[in-house]
Amino acid sequence: MKIDLTNKNILVTGASRGIGAGIAKALAESGAQIAVQYNSNETAAQELAQQIGNDSKIFKTNLKNATECEQLFDNVVNEFGYVDAIVNNAGIAISSPFSNENWTAEWDETLAVNLRAVAILCKKAIEHFKTRTAGRIINISSRSAYRGEGEEYLAYAAAKAGVVTLSKSIAKTYGKDGITCFVIAPGWVKTDMAQAYIDEIGEASIIKDLSLNRITEPKDIGPIVTLLASGLADHATGTTIDINAGSYVH
Ligand SMILES: NC(=O)c1ccc[n+]([C@@H]2O[C@H](COP(=O)([O-])OP(=O)(O)OC[C@H]3O[C@@H](n4cnc5c(N)ncnc54)[C@H](OP(=O)(O)O)[C@@H]3O)[C@@H](O)[C@H]2O)c1
Repeated sequence: MKIDLTNKNILVTGASRGIGAGIAKALAESGAQIAVQYNSNETAAQELAQQIGNDSKIFKTNLKNATECEQLFDNVVNEFGYVDAIVNNAGIAISSPFSNENWTAEWDETLAVNLRAVAILCKKAIEHFKTRTAGRIINISSRSAYRGEGEEYLAYAAAKAGVVTLSKSIAKTYGKDGITCFVIAPGWVKTDMAQAYIDEIGEASIIKDLSLNRITEPKDIGPIVTLLASGLADHATGTTIDINAGSYVH
C-alpha cells in the first residue's frame, strides 16, 4: 500500500511538540503540506516546519479564544488556498481537584481548549469541505473518554468524551457531503503532558498495565493518522481507534 499525500494541505493543531509533532512528521513524510499550529512554542514550531519541509508553515493561535480558532482556519485557507484534512490534536490537562480555588475557571479552560476549539474548527472545516465535497477530520481524544479519570481530571475526561460524540455526529451527518470523521484515543504517550505522571509512578509501573513492553510514543500515532488522512480508510468513518499498547486487553 502506497500513501501519497502530495498536494494535500493538512492543518495539525498542537503540532509544536508531542503527539502533534509526531503526526505532522508522518503526514509530511507522505508528502503533505502542513499548517503547524502552535500557541507558545514558536521556535519549536518553526524548527519543525523547516524540518518536515513541503513548504509547511506555522500558525500561532490560542485555542482558548473562540475568535482565534475561527481565524486560524481562515488564515490557513488564505495561505494554502484549500484544506484537505484537519487533525484536532492540541490539548491541555490541568490538575483540578475540588480543593482548587479556581476549579470553575479550570473546568471552563479545559472545555474551551479540549472541546469547544475542536467544535469550532470542525464547523469551519465542514463549511469549507462542503464547498469541495471532500474532507477528513481526525480528532484526538483519549482513553479517559472511555475509562473516566480521578477527581483531578474530571473536566479533561468529560471534554474528551465530548470529542468522541462530536466526531460520531459529524460522521453521521456529513458523510454524504464527502466528509469523514475519525477519533484517535491514545493511552499514555511519552510527551510533556504525561511526563509528570511517568516520573511520579515510574515507567515500569505503567508498562505493567500494557500488553507491549514500552510506553507509546508520538511516532506510534502518526502512521494511523496518515492512513486516515489518505482516504484509504474512509469506510471506517465514525470510528474510534484505540492506541494504548493493548492496555484494554491486558
Ligand atoms: N500524552 C498523553 O499521554 C495523552 C494521552 C491521551 C490523549 N492525549 C491527547 O493528545 C493530544 C496531544 O497531547 P500531547 O501529549 O502531545 O501534549 P503536549 O506535549 O502537552 O503538547 C500540547 C500541544 O498543544 C498545544 N496547545 C496547548 N494549549 C494550547 C492552546 N491554548 N492553544 C493552542 N495550542 C495549545 C501546545 O502548543 P505550544 O507548545 O505551542 O504551547 C502543544 O503543541 C492532546 O489532545 C491530549 O489530550 C495525550
